Amino acid sequence: MTPASNRARTMVSPDQMSDEYRTMLVKMLTVQMSSEYATPIMVPWLTRAPSAEERIEEALAFADEMRHGKGVADILRAIGYDPDPLIEEAQRGPEHGQRKLDIFHVTIDTWEELCIYRMVAERAGAIQALGTATSTYLPLADWSCRSAYDEGEVHSALGRRRVPRLLKQGRVEELQRALDKWMPLSTDMFGRPDSSNEQKYLDLGIKNLSNREVRRRFADVMEKEIGDLKPLTLPDPYRGLREAYAP
Ligand SMILES: [Fe+2]
Ligand SMILES: [Fe+2]
Repeated sequence: MTPASNRARTMVSPDQMSDEYRTMLVKMLTVQMSSEYATPIMVPWLTRAPSAEERIEEALAFADEMRHGKGVADILRAIGYDPDPLIEEAQRGPEHGQRKLDIFHVTIDTWEELCIYRMVAERAGAIQALGTATSTYLPLADWSCRSAYDEGEVHSALGRRRVPRLLKQGRVEELQRALDKWMPLSTDMFGRPDSSNEQKYLDLGIKNLSNREVRRRFADVMEKEIGDLKPLTLPDPYRGLREAYAP
């Protein structure tokens, strides 16, 4: 399927969808929704963030994630899938949620970790959302554009502002440890290249960028942004915990 014929097939309503399209959409969106609803890992920081301003920033980002989660849940309901059991499960805590990505099973243990998470994992989320920003299913494209903006320009900006400040305060070792913990988890977020699901998503036009392409974009951004934060060193952006990916 070429991109041009994908555009011609843009759908605004679920009844335009083939069974295969619906099945694949459910497969992808149940992972996305469970991951958006992984908010229990953020709960401690609503009160533990050091300043009042930072607690407010955390609360606003928290609300955004709930809105992202609800947005996906609404899409799933509209195509006839009941998301409620998965929402309950995702909300139960970091150890729960069979459809969550690995990274959302991990706890954020220090303030430096949270700030690195904001800078690195949120950026990964933003780039991932760009991968569905021109989806053939218009409600998903709409959701993806808003999410890419929230994660890339709002949530990760919190990290970009806080990390240099922490560096100036001499928190180099803590930040480096945090980077070493959260980079491989973020790299894994993009999934395996060339899986059979991946090819189907692209053929159907559910996604418009491959896992390999979005991971490469993420690596390029990290090389630039972390490269500017000496003396921090970026772990290999293609090495996940699951596997080392081809650039
Ligand atoms: Fe989100
Ligand atoms: Fe976010």
